Amino acid sequence: MKNANIGMIVLVLVQALWPCLSHAQAAQNKKIEEEALKQESIYQSRGGDVPEGYVIGRALPAYVNALPSEFGLDLANLGASGRWLDIGAGEGQAILDYYSPTSVIEKTGGENSKVQSVAISIEDRRTSRWHQTAARLDANQIRYLHGKSLREYTTQELGKFQIITDLLGGFSYTKDLSKFIEKTLSLLQVNGSFYSILQDVHSENGSNQPFYTGAPFLTEILNPDGSKMQICTWLKNISCVQVRCEFKEGWKPPVEIYRVQKVCDNVTVPPLKPVHFMAGTPPERRFQLSNSASAAPVHNVTTP
Ligand SMILES: C[S@@+](CC[C@H](N)C(=O)[O-])C[C@H]1O[C@@H](n2cnc3c(N)ncnc32)[C@H](O)[C@@H]1O
Repeated sequence: MKNANIGMIVLVLVQALWPCLSHAQAAQNKKIEEEALKQESIYQSRGGDVPEGYVIGRALPAYVNALPSEFGLDLANLGASGRWLDIGAGEGQAILDYYSPTSVIEKTGGENSKVQSVAISIEDRRTSRWHQTAARLDANQIRYLHGKSLREYTTQELGKFQIITDLLGGFSYTKDLSKFIEKTLSLLQVNGSFYSILQDVHSENGSNQPFYTGAPFLTEILNPDGSKMQICTWLKNISCVQVRCEFKEGWKPPVEIYRVQKVCDNVTVPPLKPVHFMAGTPPERRFQLSNSASAAPVHNVTTP
């Protein structure tokens, strides 16, 4: 009887608060869409309008230096039928450097390696160097795709890859983190690896504070009850992957780098909904694990 009364009170309260909750939700979504428009103008900026923090031309040595140490070795060992996808490639300099005769990567397959690479960017940042390199290589050995975000490509359009990189590209910029990683992992072959990085996040061991006093971490995840969850913990709750996270404290701002190796096909990503997005280079983002995710079985994964 007592429980029935409590249940009735909760029902009445939920019904009374529902219009306020849905109003708050609509306002939140509207704000996110407004900020997404500002973000789009950063993508489309040209010449002197490109914000200082929007770096589009990192070279291959910068990728090797920033990403987990296995990346350089994996790239060197790609066989003749190997494929590399760089998400959020900007000008695609890292890919161009890989095919340069003076590349920092010594390909075990020799210079005749037929490795294929695909660069994806929302906006077209190709330079004359891109066109010259593409003309020198076999048809379609390097491809530059633009005009839409990663999520909008099908696997048929892109194919599958042994290596996927994202150096301050879509993983740092998307407003839908779980859908982004779901798509990325669907494009990885089993045993392939995704290499990425995030700036200014709560590290795996939880010992750091946000880099800028008074500001939140740049990317945050909340549990359904509002408590915080580390990015690394969320990644480790994805099934069929092995995840290694490494915090680089000395960087300003500090970064956490990730190697996500796909070990089987049955990948399930705990779904997140965006609750905050503020345009920037990269944007400030907060996501919340949906209720259903907490009820779903957690797949424990051991770190290699
Ligand atoms: C700051 S630039 C980084 C470029 C390059 N990785 C570098 O380090 O020089 C960000 C890049 O990510 C791309 N980007 C952002 N969100 C994306 C998404 N959801 N899908 C594909 N590309 C995205 C942008 O279009 C741009 O090419």
